[in-house]
Amino acid sequence: MESTVPKWWKEATIYQIYPASFKDSNGDGLGDIPGIISKLDYLKALGVNVLWICPFYKSPQYDMGYDISDYQDVHAPYGTKADIDALISGVHERGMKVIFDLVVNHTSHEHAWFQESRSSKQSPKRDWYIWKPAKMVDGKRAPPNNWRSNFGGSVWQWDEHTQEYYLHYFAPQQPDLNWENPEVRKAVYATAVNYWLDKGVNGFRIDTVNMYSKWLDFPDADIVDPSTPWQPADKFYSNGPRLHEFLKEMHRECFGRYDVVSIGECPNTPNFHDVLPFVSTKEKELDMVIQFDLASMDHGGGELRLWHRDWSLRLFKAITEDAQKLAIPEHDGWCTTYLENHDQARSVSRFANDDPKYRVAGAKMLATYLLTLSGTPIIFQGEELGMVNMPPSWDVDKEYKDLNTIDYMVELRRMAGSDKGMLEKGIYGAQRTARDHGRTPIQWDDSSQAGFSTAKDTWMRVNDSYKEINAATEEKDANSVLAFYRQLLTLRQEYKELFIYGMFELHESEDDNTITYIKRNGDQNALVLLNFTNQDQSFVIPSTFKGQPELLLSNLPKAGKHVLRPYEARIYVNKGKRVVNGA
Ligand code: GLC
Ligand code: CA
Repeated sequence: MESTVPKWWKEATIYQIYPASFKDSNGDGLGDIPGIISKLDYLKALGVNVLWICPFYKSPQYDMGYDISDYQDVHAPYGTKADIDALISGVHERGMKVIFDLVVNHTSHEHAWFQESRSSKQSPKRDWYIWKPAKMVDGKRAPPNNWRSNFGGSVWQWDEHTQEYYLHYFAPQQPDLNWENPEVRKAVYATAVNYWLDKGVNGFRIDTVNMYSKWLDFPDADIVDPSTPWQPADKFYSNGPRLHEFLKEMHRECFGRYDVVSIGECPNTPNFHDVLPFVSTKEKELDMVIQFDLASMDHGGGELRLWHRDWSLRLFKAITEDAQKLAIPEHDGWCTTYLENHDQARSVSRFANDDPKYRVAGAKMLATYLLTLSGTPIIFQGEELGMVNMPPSWDVDKEYKDLNTIDYMVELRRMAGSDKGMLEKGIYGAQRTARDHGRTPIQWDDSSQAGFSTAKDTWMRVNDSYKEINAATEEKDANSVLAFYRQLLTLRQEYKELFIYGMFELHESEDDNTITYIKRNGDQNALVLLNFTNQDQSFVIPSTFKGQPELLLSNLPKAGKHVLRPYEARIYVNKGKRVVNGA
């Protein structure tokens, strides 16, 4: 069977670092760049080979650095430009690569470009952002349309000084750039992209990449909630008319000139056919995208984005199968696989079970899923330790810091009114899926503040689970989640013709308890069996499995014959000499 074209970024395993919560080196309670440098040997030993560093740039931090006021400077509490240079060389010296976060759909309102733009209607940079006059409704000033921003309220912010509104899909402190203006694009490429690529950065994870091109007629969204003027407008935010043209230009001017990787975050784009144009090699746009279908399966719905929804394993499988299609040779694209990031709660709490009885097996089972699929896997910091959500006993109003959660709670209280049941259900949603769960400090050891910091107070509270769940304890335990990740990462490289380049074949698509798939390459195949429940589940070896199955790895000792125990994961390969085709 033909294999897809090998590339370093296809064989990469990405490890995502959220600077605020990774490691604090100077005792101020906030993670920093020297902290990251101090852990590079840990990451090398884990077996990952690309580090994605979330925004460390200069920023007033309304959205944890996704509001950048200078693309070439560093948020002072995180360190200096020299620290960034040391980070890049420290990663390269260890034979790894490093990618940064590119946030150019919007800037901070404190960025010099926006300061100039808002200074007067005649400013040469007026057109660098999207300004509109008010609409007059019954003699009163109103925004140009009824779109609700991602973080609540209108997408339009009134500016007293020049008496116009500006557009912001996210917070008012994150004004959207006007990509229609070629000068803007040129400035973005030079200052935010090529500046770093010239310094040796190996690529970017690209924030909200499909929001650059706007639907310039700004039509009103359908009214789904008459109790508020601001209606969900997700479908208008993404994939505007000139998007593919802009991405081709960015490829030409930036990524295509280097041997780097480009990974675009693509919300609101669930269909394989819509994703393919972004990632198909011949289109020369992006190498892969980050989709949201798995990640948003268990929450959302209208205004209340953290409202808990039941999810099904069938849907989980269908989504997986769809994404895997991007990597097959005839499509010549690629995909990412992830279960966690800084915008998601902890996967073991969401998709498996964080009860101490099942947590270790559950986290290893999810790791088996993550690391045996084609596409580039992204491991989020702490996922390799089996870190869990914040406990339900923690006060949502006190311990949760994310502006998205804060906005959700405001909406929830407004909508629930005196309905206590609704309020409780809404809080339950935040306890399961708020972005804050992925943002608590990394648990390095069992000393105070989990070895993350020497400060009395850390920017977010350390999860109470740190005595049991921490890197130092897991280092010493051959059966830990960490040890299992190391094993799997080694096997992923050793059997790359199957796990990275093999063709995905889903079995038992209707089964709601287990996931079964084969990864196939020529005469070689691997069978992956995953039990997502706390009950025993029987299984059969699919008839399409070639050869004699031999157990390669399991997350529980002493595999039984045809039964998977709670949260058990197994990988079988065919016995005998390996004949490696293609890659
Ligand atoms: C992306 C980021 C998220 C941020 C948003 C606005 O979705 O991952 O953290 O809030 O973009 O930049
Ligand atoms: Ca610090």
